[in-house]
Amino acid sequence: MPPSKKSSLPSFPGPRVPKAAWLCRGAVLCSVLLSEGSAVAADTPRGPAGHQSIHCQAMAAQPVEGQKPFHIISPVLESLSLSKAAGTKVFMKLENVQPSGSFKIRGIGHLCQDAAKKGCRHFVCSSGGNAGLAAAYAARKLGLPITVVVPSSSGPTPVRKLEELGATVEVYGKVWDDANSRAQELAKTEGWVSIPPFDHPLVEGHASLVRELKDSLEAKPGAIVVAVGGGGLLAGVVAGLQQVGWQDVPIIAAETLGAHSFHEALKAGRLVTLPDITSLATCLGARTVAARALQCARECQVLSQVVEDAEAVRAVEQFLDEERMLVEPACGAPLAVLYSGRLQRLQSEGRLRSSLRSVLLVLCGGSNIHTAQLRALKSRLGLQ
Ligand SMILES: Cc1ncc(COP(=O)(O)O)c(C=O)c1O
Repeated sequence: MPPSKKSSLPSFPGPRVPKAAWLCRGAVLCSVLLSEGSAVAADTPRGPAGHQSIHCQAMAAQPVEGQKPFHIISPVLESLSLSKAAGTKVFMKLENVQPSGSFKIRGIGHLCQDAAKKGCRHFVCSSGGNAGLAAAYAARKLGLPITVVVPSSSGPTPVRKLEELGATVEVYGKVWDDANSRAQELAKTEGWVSIPPFDHPLVEGHASLVRELKDSLEAKPGAIVVAVGGGGLLAGVVAGLQQVGWQDVPIIAAETLGAHSFHEALKAGRLVTLPDITSLATCLGARTVAARALQCARECQVLSQVVEDAEAVRAVEQFLDEERMLVEPACGAPLAVLYSGRLQRLQSEGRLRSSLRSVLLVLCGGSNIHTAQLRALKSRLGLQ
């Protein structure tokens, strides 16, 4: 039985992982650090939507094995409207401004650079959108060809964007799992390298997100909210938290109903394959979450939250109105956790501290959205 929209699961307190010997290389900080509750200086940098910016952008890119990474060090902004809704100060890590429109470029850019160095001649990636876009962007930067296999559920927008980036696109099957089996076939070709959209090899690249937070936030957040599809972002965030010694920060893992494979896995204590993906948040649609994501819930406190598509889409619209940024329903899921009072509910249930210093939302972004699509999503869901 699918979980009710109110459902969430007990955390899995696990063994503490020793702080990794991690070294930030080459980052030139330009951070404006505001103590919590302190007055904002008149010259505090302002973000694009008029927020207080606590992290300005002039930072040297962190070299990966001698190469400049493809991702940017994304800004961190405080959102007054989200803070009001959540009853706690909310900071957003703006991954929507990454090249290719989402955090995916972190792990995928890193992996593609590494593969190119090792002699890859052609990339292949199966993706409902953002992972494919990140891989196509990286391939283009590296001057290598790429074939992206997308399921028909992704719709025409990512196909057009992928082709604009110079990728060969093959539409195969209905959901990601179908497209992935085709990509794995293609990856057997000599010289071709498969770029997974969310699994293990991406974790190190995604972890850079938390290393940046450590540099830009004055103190560790009281909780981090992330979207979960295949679980690569979650695994990267957990790896990052462990690297910077923040492994006691609770993570709220948001999914939409119909793409809630992580929630089901957590509930069962083992990987569970959903019979189908029925959520409109297609980017969250992995029928089985990565094994590493489930393991993460044993190493850190991970609280699963499942929202309905309608809540995610409403959250996207509210966020657009309030912060003037348009993100995918995949990103609407963590937004809905904050807009819908779920955070407060976790607090009142004693599963999160009643007074949180701040909450950090990973604004994962997504390119597969435009205003006409938002209208179409609303009408499919019967929202006016
Ligand atoms: C915009 C966006 N947010 C979140 C996710 C979920 O990431 P993951 O599959 O690493 O869990 C995806 C995955 O494609 C995505 O595109």
